[in-house]
Order: sequence, then C-alpha cells, then structure tokens
Amino acid sequence: MDELDNIRAEALAAVAGAATLEALDAARVAALGKKGAISGLMSRLGAMTADERKAAGAALNAVKDEVAAAIAVRKGELDAKALDERLARERVDVTLPVRPERQGRVHPISQVMEEIAAIFAQMGFAVAEGPDIEDDFHNFTALNIPAEHPARQMHDTFYFGEKPDGTRNLLRTHTSPVQIRTMLTEKPPIRIIAPGRTYRCDSDMTHTPMFHQVEGLVIDKATHMGHLKGCLIEFVRSFFEVDDVPVRFRPSFFPFTEPSAEVDIGCSREGGELKIGYAREGAQSENDSGPTPTGKGWLEILGCGMVHPNVLRACGIDPHEYQGFAFGMGVERVAMLKYGIPDLRTFFDSDLRWLEHYGFLPIDVPTLSGGLTR
Ligand code: DAH
Repeated sequence: MDELDNIRAEALAAVAGAATLEALDAARVAALGKKGAISGLMSRLGAMTADERKAAGAALNAVKDEVAAAIAVRKGELDAKALDERLARERVDVTLPVRPERQGRVHPISQVMEEIAAIFAQMGFAVAEGPDIEDDFHNFTALNIPAEHPARQMHDTFYFGEKPDGTRNLLRTHTSPVQIRTMLTEKPPIRIIAPGRTYRCDSDMTHTPMFHQVEGLVIDKATHMGHLKGCLIEFVRSFFEVDDVPVRFRPSFFPFTEPSAEVDIGCSREGGELKIGYAREGAQSENDSGPTPTGKGWLEILGCGMVHPNVLRACGIDPHEYQGFAFGMGVERVAMLKYGIPDLRTFFDSDLRWLEHYGFLPIDVPTLSGGLTR
C-alpha cells in the first residue's frame, strides 16, 4: 500500500513541521479528522475481501496510532514552548527597587486602630466584631436606652425602611452593640475591644457621617472602677507615648454605665502647636475647653463607666454575680491629636497627597516592642 506509506510520511512530516498549536491541529484534522486522509482509506475497507480487509485494517490502525502518538509528542513540545515564552514575557525582576510613586500608604485610621489593638492585646484583650447594620435591640434597648429615651434623638440615627413587622434596621451609631453581642454569646470572664465603623446623620467641621470607634468591655466577678482607671491610664500613656501625660476622670452620664465618666488628657500649646502633656514652661492656666494659645488645658478623648446592671440583665448575666467596665473612643479624634491632623473631613477626601503626608509605610506595623510609631 504505497498510498498508505505516502499518507503516513506526509502526516508525520506535517506534525513534525507544525510550528504552532494551530498548525498542529490542522495537521491532525488533515490526517485523522472525519474527512482526513486516513479516514478516507478506512472508508474503502468495506469494498475489500475479508482477508484483504484484515491486513489493510491492521496496517491502517498502526499508522493511525503512530500519527496520534506523534501528535501527542509534538503537542507536549509546543505546550512547553508556549509556557517558556509566556514566562519570559511575564518575567518580573523582584530585585528591582520599588518605584516610590507607586508605594502605597496605610491610612492613619487603620494605623491608629492597629496601635490601639496592639496596646490592648498586650493587656489580654481579644478583638470582637459586629455588623454595621444593627437592630434597635442591640444598638439601643439592650444598652438601657428605651424607646422614648432622649439619647435616641442625640444619636442622629440613619434608619432603613420599615420591615413587615414594623421594626426598622439602622446603621449602628456606636460600637457599643458589640458589647451586647459579645455578652449574649460568650460567658464571662470577658475582655474584648471592638474597633469598627459607626454612622450618624451629621456633617460639619468636626463630624463626618461615617466615623470609627473602638469599644472596650471587661466583665468578671470582681472587676471595679480601679481596674477601669488603671487600664485606661495605661492605654493613654502607651498610645500617646508620653509617660507623664495628665489623665482626668470627669463624672458624666451614659445610659449604659453607672457610674459614668469622661476621660480628659492634659495638653498644652508650644509655639502654636498642640502638645500632649504639659509644656515645661509657658503653661499658665488650666482650661476645660482645651489649651489656651499659651497655656494648658484638658481635651476629652473617651467615655467610660461601670456596666449598668440593666445592660447585664438584658444579656442574661446576673448583676449580683458579675460586674465590669466599658469604654468607647473616637478613632479620628485620637488620631488627630496624636498625629497633629487639623481637619477631620480630610480623612475621607481620598487625596493622595494627604495620604502621602499623613499615611504610614506598610512595613511600619505597630508593636509595643518595636515602637508604636515610626
Ligand atoms: N457609645 C458611646 C458614644 O458613642 C461611647 C461610650 C461611652 C461607650 C461610655 C462606652 C462607655 O462603652 O462606657 O458616645
């Protein structure tokens, strides 16, 4: 069968000569496809005698197998070649220095939340989370803020539409609902902080509709106000990295704590610049609404108190057996104080020049051992 020899030689040559996967496929179709050369010879078998058919069929099958095997080998070679080419094309030189204009920055909010978490982690606090979309029970009722309580108005809440049962979900107005969620799912002793986004329908020089808070909660059998004070004084000193920063606990009111306090830190002005802690010279009079241009004064940084028995009860915790403290602080506020950022609204302008100036390098991860800040 000369014809078969020719077809075999032609097919093998086409396969060997195929320079691309497409050319190889064309060679496969020409030889083995339905209308291909080998299939053409196959169709002639029917006209042969039984003996002829047996011999010719075996020869045809052998050629078919040989060509198929050659195609598989060639395909392997071409695949490897395509991969090599792609690897060469997509080659990345990892030793090249980073282009400074492409270097990302960590937003001060993220950095400050990491710093806060690092300090409380050292004191044995775990990080807890809750949803941004809350319901009335977690955001208000369980926190001892009943339906007609004036604190509900003060929170300028963003509400969602009414559900069939008449209730409305809301964007959480503070991180305090995470206290409730934690107490409902975990047994005391509890020691958590809850950093996250919060929302209020308020926008001016000192308010943005979305902002960040960090909540803290400690519940145990003998936790008392002394623990609250010690813990927060330690936090303030570590966070601002000023050992002798004056800290003041001023009586206040929150529905979810009793007694309640606000924490102020002592600040002063030096050459027009706000300084955390007192200046050695030039500090003259104390002022409750922040430092005077030349003197010293107090700035409020967080709210705190002993968890109200009603809150414990709402979470199924017996207030005769357990007690504890809670606190909440605004992340933007402490970030502005620590890093001298003058305008709150710039935090969310997404201005790359601002981020370049106030942002942090990704490798500057805050740790207590390595230093919180660069
Ligand atoms: N949730 C309060 C607010 O948004 C802050 C706060 C104050 C949280 C006192 C607390 C606390 O846990 O004890 O203004």
